[in-house]
Amino acid sequence: MKKLVTGFPENFLWGGATAANQCEGGFHEGGKGISIADIQAYHKGLDRKIVQDRDYTKEKLEYRLSHQDEFYFPKRQGVDFFHNYKEDIALMKEMGFTCYRMSISWTRIFPNGDEETPNEAGLQFYDDVFDELHRNGIEPIVTLTHYDMPLHLVTDYGGWYNRKIIDFFVRFACTCLNRYKDKVTYWIIINQINLIYAESFNSLGILEDAHDNFEEAKYQGVHHQFVASSLVVKEAKNINPNFKMGTMSADSTRAPLTCHPDDVKLALQRNRMQYFFFDVQLKGEYPLYALRYFKENNINIQMAEGDEELIRNHTMEFLAVAYYYSYCVDAKKPEARRVNNPYLKANEWGWSIDAVGLYSCMSMYWDRYHVPMMIAENGLGMVELMENEERIHDDYRINYLGQHIKELKDAICDGAEVFAYCVWAPFDIISAGTSEMSKRYGLIYIDQDDYGKGSKKRIPKDSFYWYKNVIASNGEILD
Ligand code: BG6
Repeated sequence: MKKLVTGFPENFLWGGATAANQCEGGFHEGGKGISIADIQAYHKGLDRKIVQDRDYTKEKLEYRLSHQDEFYFPKRQGVDFFHNYKEDIALMKEMGFTCYRMSISWTRIFPNGDEETPNEAGLQFYDDVFDELHRNGIEPIVTLTHYDMPLHLVTDYGGWYNRKIIDFFVRFACTCLNRYKDKVTYWIIINQINLIYAESFNSLGILEDAHDNFEEAKYQGVHHQFVASSLVVKEAKNINPNFKMGTMSADSTRAPLTCHPDDVKLALQRNRMQYFFFDVQLKGEYPLYALRYFKENNINIQMAEGDEELIRNHTMEFLAVAYYYSYCVDAKKPEARRVNNPYLKANEWGWSIDAVGLYSCMSMYWDRYHVPMMIAENGLGMVELMENEERIHDDYRINYLGQHIKELKDAICDGAEVFAYCVWAPFDIISAGTSEMSKRYGLIYIDQDDYGKGSKKRIPKDSFYWYKNVIASNGEILD
């Protein structure tokens, strides 16, 4: 008989996660090119419930590019991890991190995306970061692309809709896999491959008005991402058989708003179209429910000969999950993608807080896929003002993280195989969705405002010291 599991496994990896485009800065340095993140502007007085710059039309993109002086682009300077990485890694070590999930900026390595040879200065930067992490006993977990496609691949090729992007991405990915084959073991190929409704431009670089059927164009782009991911897995195993190659979900599991059978059925159908991405990437084929959805919605996906075989033969080895919130579906309002759960409270951005939802989705993913999993992101964004205090007292974050870690432990005790937990984020960074600095997730406060002004001094919050104890106790001490 199997032995009961009573807590987090030995050698469980504890750490935090960031994305290059939200923290690095160094936008003009080391030969870096312009990515889609570098043209995302901060909008004063923004509506926090709306993701900014979610979709782009050709006109909007052209205006943005020809009127750059009218905007402030926070992701160009991030929080200066590019120059500050040694201090930031030292603080992670002080918390006891054993892993750090980070991403490689595609435009540091291939500034325009379509070059034949990579940019050595960009490659060297990540050599230095990985070396620094290893010196501090921290395992890098690396996302190859996290919302920072080279802009040139959008303007001149039409983003992931164009099959040529597969070759450019595979070249970039293989350059990284070869270069860092002795420094990195865990690779997440594409950040949140399923988030094509909320983050379509970030994920796919497809302009809204470039196609008559935008939804079809998005799924075509996703198909190219599936093919590219399988090609990367195939190459990876030749480069280093010990590599672990993963895909990633932004968990979007929906609960039925009521127990009315129509709500229950709609929730199941919506959830399947979220699991679709992982059914393809982990089980190796397009499921029938998706083929039916495509037919009924006039979505015709062009596949080349050999695509299906490639996807079947080169599936992903682990599932990384970003978990922040949960929502419901209401059969009376099927068009609403996010219906708030009346039992839950939400933060200022309308993100409903539901720790139990983490237990449910991790248990469900385990039952469905039986592959190792990790929490790639989990955290709470809040407005926090330092004013005259010496330290941010973020008991709300401690509460949030503690409850989520407890639910994760429950899922593990019920059988889910999970090897890492990464809090989003070790330090405050620029928000992906709203480009604000004011949406702070960090365990370390950074003195910087929405316009990039401030000393950039790093100041640990209460949660920094709390998390240190969590890690030291391997997730046993959570208060
Ligand atoms: C995840 C993204 O979906 O959500 C991150 O992978 C992002 O890049 C995080 O930062 C939180 O979103 P936001 O919009 O609050 O920064």
